[in-house]
Amino acid sequence: MKFRLLSLLLFIGIQQLMAQENSTEKIFIANPYLQIGREPSAQSLELVWHVADADATWFVEERTKDSNAWTRIEAINFTRVAVTGVDPHRIYHIKFNKLDPGSTFYYRVIKNKVVVFEAEGKAPKSDKQNYRFVAIGDIGALTPDQKLLAVQAYKAKPDMVVVAGDIVYNTGLISEYRTKFWNIYNSDKETEQSAPIMRSVPFVAAPGNHDIATRDLDRLPQALAYFMFWDQPLNGPNGPEGSAWVPLLKGSDENKNAFKAAAGDAYPRMGNFSFNYGNAHWLYLDSNPYVNWSDKTLTDWIKNDLASAKGATWRFVVFHHPGFNSSRQHFEEQQMRVLSPAFEAGNVDVVITGHVHNYQRTYPLTFTPDPPAATTTPSRGRIVNGKWVLDNNFNGKTVTKPKGIIYIVTGAGGADLYNPEQQDDKNSWQTFTSTFISKVHSLTVVDVEGKTLNFRQIAADGKEVDAFKVTK
Ligand SMILES: [Fe+2]
Repeated sequence: MKFRLLSLLLFIGIQQLMAQENSTEKIFIANPYLQIGREPSAQSLELVWHVADADATWFVEERTKDSNAWTRIEAINFTRVAVTGVDPHRIYHIKFNKLDPGSTFYYRVIKNKVVVFEAEGKAPKSDKQNYRFVAIGDIGALTPDQKLLAVQAYKAKPDMVVVAGDIVYNTGLISEYRTKFWNIYNSDKETEQSAPIMRSVPFVAAPGNHDIATRDLDRLPQALAYFMFWDQPLNGPNGPEGSAWVPLLKGSDENKNAFKAAAGDAYPRMGNFSFNYGNAHWLYLDSNPYVNWSDKTLTDWIKNDLASAKGATWRFVVFHHPGFNSSRQHFEEQQMRVLSPAFEAGNVDVVITGHVHNYQRTYPLTFTPDPPAATTTPSRGRIVNGKWVLDNNFNGKTVTKPKGIIYIVTGAGGADLYNPEQQDDKNSWQTFTSTFISKVHSLTVVDVEGKTLNFRQIAADGKEVDAFKVTK
């Protein structure tokens, strides 16, 4: 009798294991991935997964390291994506909302009573805990170095990954996420070209030009997937379309309605948002040149948002187009400089950007734009002249308290490198540039330890190419 019971249990176990082994390719269009969600906290994360458009009973079970009891979370909320060019599919969302800050937790996704996915997650850090984040931009280009850097990001064991825009090339399509993104950053296991990061650590993405600048849904009905796939706060200024920060959506009513149904409330509001993580306040902005950053609604929002982050030790701002760039490529697209006075008034410490496919950091600086700051919104960005004051004494080693904001370009995340010839040609750098590395792809690793930030820039081969410290 005992033998038969054991055999039965073994049989069930093997069936479940097989279901898990075979599950991810068949069952998921995008494997489950963690997100900070609409209302981030140190106790919560959201889990998102994409599957075919078919009814099933889904739930997620979660437990902490030391407990054997699973807590069940029903998965009934999904959005349906039914746009021209891809088979209709569903995006399921559940929320973990009782996490122990900074702890490892375990979860499994269950479909029709079968475990189809298991992973461990890292709960967000509280404001008292140290943490590590990776920052990287211009990534989903399906290049060998994009893949190597995905592995480097995984090896760095971050608590959060900051994506500084241009998530997938060339036009932010659903199909492009499938071929250039999910498979690289959320593969079933670590390989030399992919890593299972997103199931354990939330990525938080700013929108780049390749993600959301295309608004013509007749030409590209699968565009603007950013608004469908990312589960991030909606606390920035709301639309409407045609406002100073939301361009008009183009296309037939059918295509527009299909997109809006798939995007839900994320469109158009998720272009700009803020949240707290650890001891820092994070402000994410849409830096595409269609935005008029002289608009008072926007600048008031930034001012109020930064002023409201009183308890934060650090203030990071993340967006795509760098305001301070020495690269010849994209040199004319400096529109975000116009916000420097607002960032300075709001005590911002570091601005993290991409767009320019190399790594650059400035000396700490303050900047005063010439009046009028910027009154036009040309399609490819604009020059903003003005005066900068540099803190040339800061060296990130022995002098670590900056006078001013440090602006970082970390756009060497995979897409073809820009201006490798400038790395050794210091005369070609603007005077605000302290470091310029354009011969290798790289990502940024930052350890936040109370009032100290330790930055390291890591190349695709794992070598450190820059390091500096910032203290308060
Ligand atoms: Fe870009």
